Amino acid sequence: MLVVNPDTPSHDTWALVPKPDPEPGAREVIVDVAAAGVNRADLLQVAGSYPPPPGAPSWPGLEVSGTVSAVGPGSRWQVGDEVVALVEGGGYATRVLVPDAQVLPAPHGVPLVDAAALPEAVCTLWSTLGAARLTAGEWLLVHGGSGGIGTVAIQLATAMGVHVATTAGGPDRTARCAELGAELAIDHRSADLASEVHRVAPDGVDVILDVLGAGSLATNLSCLAVEGRLAIIGLQQGSRAELDLGLLLSRRLTVLATTLRSRPRTQKAEIVAGVAEHVWPLVESGQVRPVVHDRVPLAEAAHAHRRLASGEVFGSLVLVP
Ligand SMILES: NC(=O)c1ccc[n+]([C@@H]2O[C@H](COP(=O)([O-])OP(=O)(O)OC[C@H]3O[C@@H](n4cnc5c(N)ncnc54)[C@H](OP(=O)(O)O)[C@@H]3O)[C@@H](O)[C@H]2O)c1
Repeated sequence: MLVVNPDTPSHDTWALVPKPDPEPGAREVIVDVAAAGVNRADLLQVAGSYPPPPGAPSWPGLEVSGTVSAVGPGSRWQVGDEVVALVEGGGYATRVLVPDAQVLPAPHGVPLVDAAALPEAVCTLWSTLGAARLTAGEWLLVHGGSGGIGTVAIQLATAMGVHVATTAGGPDRTARCAELGAELAIDHRSADLASEVHRVAPDGVDVILDVLGAGSLATNLSCLAVEGRLAIIGLQQGSRAELDLGLLLSRRLTVLATTLRSRPRTQKAEIVAGVAEHVWPLVESGQVRPVVHDRVPLAEAAHAHRRLASGEVFGSLVLVP
């Protein structure tokens, strides 16, 4: 098989290098990759600040779509099945080894290549919004509704009967977030977040899905309703900030932070099972779709990373071998 080698990130292109084909063990499958999703976490990994967990391949890639080409003993999948999969790394390749329990059937009605943009987003969202106890009728603020995670978050929460407010950079991007279902789309470059949020949700929002971290902590807390939950999944504005515990105490607020990749496989299996039961029907009914900005050849992965870093991408890029 061929894998992307980003060991020379300063180079314009990254080589595709041969590796021995993986062999499936018990309850594992080999997937011939149709496409691999590109995530901001992949940029962090290449920059050296988000190393793959022990045992994971060293090359990037957290999610793929493709066709099962081999199965290990006891697998519930069959050769020829079209699937998507959540992987701990190594998706930027022509082939991946995946535990059975991290595989989902390719959703009907979604092109197989585009479906590669779903697993990381839906699994992150299902686990995080569940931990934040988000329920129908509540208000959710999604930071970065224009991103790979955010575009899916807007649609998923809307399909769950949740009111969605979101942020994005610039009028074109906020307009597209509104088309995805956001009732309020705020331009984070020009608007005052707290006053915009309180205009539509006078008591504040119930849950915030935050990809910013330290730099937005105080503003986020000021946007929460009593008993609101701040769920942090990204640290684009840093990891250290001062926290007013008195505010948490008096307003009964919760701050939680979570990550998907480092979870044990047993937890990933539970999350994937939850996605299969609760989120996949919404995907197959067309209420939640991957928003694919462009399909890029796998050999141009370095260029795809530069495009994501530049801020030009709305939704996700997928790499096609
Ligand atoms: N914890 C986990 O398990 C987990 C899993 C997946 C992803 N993540 C994290 O989630 C984040 C998003 O990932 P992604 O792959 O969706 O990245 P992405 O596609 O690059 O999206 C990044 C988003 O951040 C937004 N953004 C940047 N600066 C902002 C600001 N000042 N205010 C509001 N929004 C701002 C961008 O909006 P504009 O471009 O419109 O400005 C864009 O929508 C990353 O931090 C990633 O590490 C965490």
